[in-house]
Amino acid sequence: MTIDVVHDGVGLERALAAQGEGSRAVVMTMGALHAGHLALVRRAHELADHVVVTVFVNPLQFGPTEDLERYPRDLAGDLGRLEPLAVAGDVLFAPSVAEMYPTGDPAVRVSAGPVGELLEGTLRPGHLDGVLTVVLKLLHRIRPQVALFGQKDAQQLAAVRAMVHDLDLPVQVVAVPTVRDDDGLALSSRNAYLSPEQRQRALALVGALRAGERAAAAGAGADEVRAAARQVLAPAVDRLDYVELVDERFVPMGPDASGPGTLLLAGVVGTTRLIDNVPLQVVAPGAVQVRTADTIGG
Ligand code: PAF
Repeated sequence: MTIDVVHDGVGLERALAAQGEGSRAVVMTMGALHAGHLALVRRAHELADHVVVTVFVNPLQFGPTEDLERYPRDLAGDLGRLEPLAVAGDVLFAPSVAEMYPTGDPAVRVSAGPVGELLEGTLRPGHLDGVLTVVLKLLHRIRPQVALFGQKDAQQLAAVRAMVHDLDLPVQVVAVPTVRDDDGLALSSRNAYLSPEQRQRALALVGALRAGERAAAAGAGADEVRAAARQVLAPAVDRLDYVELVDERFVPMGPDASGPGTLLLAGVVGTTRLIDNVPLQVVAPGAVQVRTADTIGG
């Protein structure tokens, strides 16, 4: 099935009008599509009548020393990967930088707030503001009922959810689980930068998440879970950016905290910065577990 590929506002409006009645989902990407993106598109088709995929390498979310120039761009390849999944009315919106930011970098941007002030927000100043600004612009232009984001970028997902909640945006945010290669490495467009030796070392991210999960399952508190993951990750990477465990509000869990959390990792292997995360349940030593309707009766 062919996809309607559009590059500007006029083309986009025409393509959206051609979709006609029914609900619309958007999958926003920076291209270099892999199986993780395709899982988002498949889920989008389950949730809505029409799907718009965006491909835009957003300069606003790259720091001055980051990989904006070398970020993989392959629109023809992306189209080839999307076409087998496409249904009638699907749209690929691939705007230029001038189309998205006609007067240069926008003076007004979305602030990610507290979620933007830790982890990625500290290490990549302005990154999440840049993400939210382009996400908001794309939501305005595409007007979807559903927007899908990968769990792999957990902090981005939390920031988007906060924006949608705080700014009353009329869209449902849906998270899609991380897709992994057979060896466990989370799919990322940046994996293409890794040499075979670096890829081997990158597997320590997976090992660290598993170590954290094992610690949590054995009843360790948040500090021990972080320590278990750090012990695996630190020797393997060329730079360890963080090992953190946050709660549902994306606040770091204290040593006595219990409940659902997300263990997040970031590190550099060679020159490639990688992130990964896993949801887990922390039962702090000594914490009394409250039995809820969900847990009673098993
Ligand atoms: O996750 C990404 O690929 C990007 O951050 C997004 C959401 C497309 C915004 O540029």
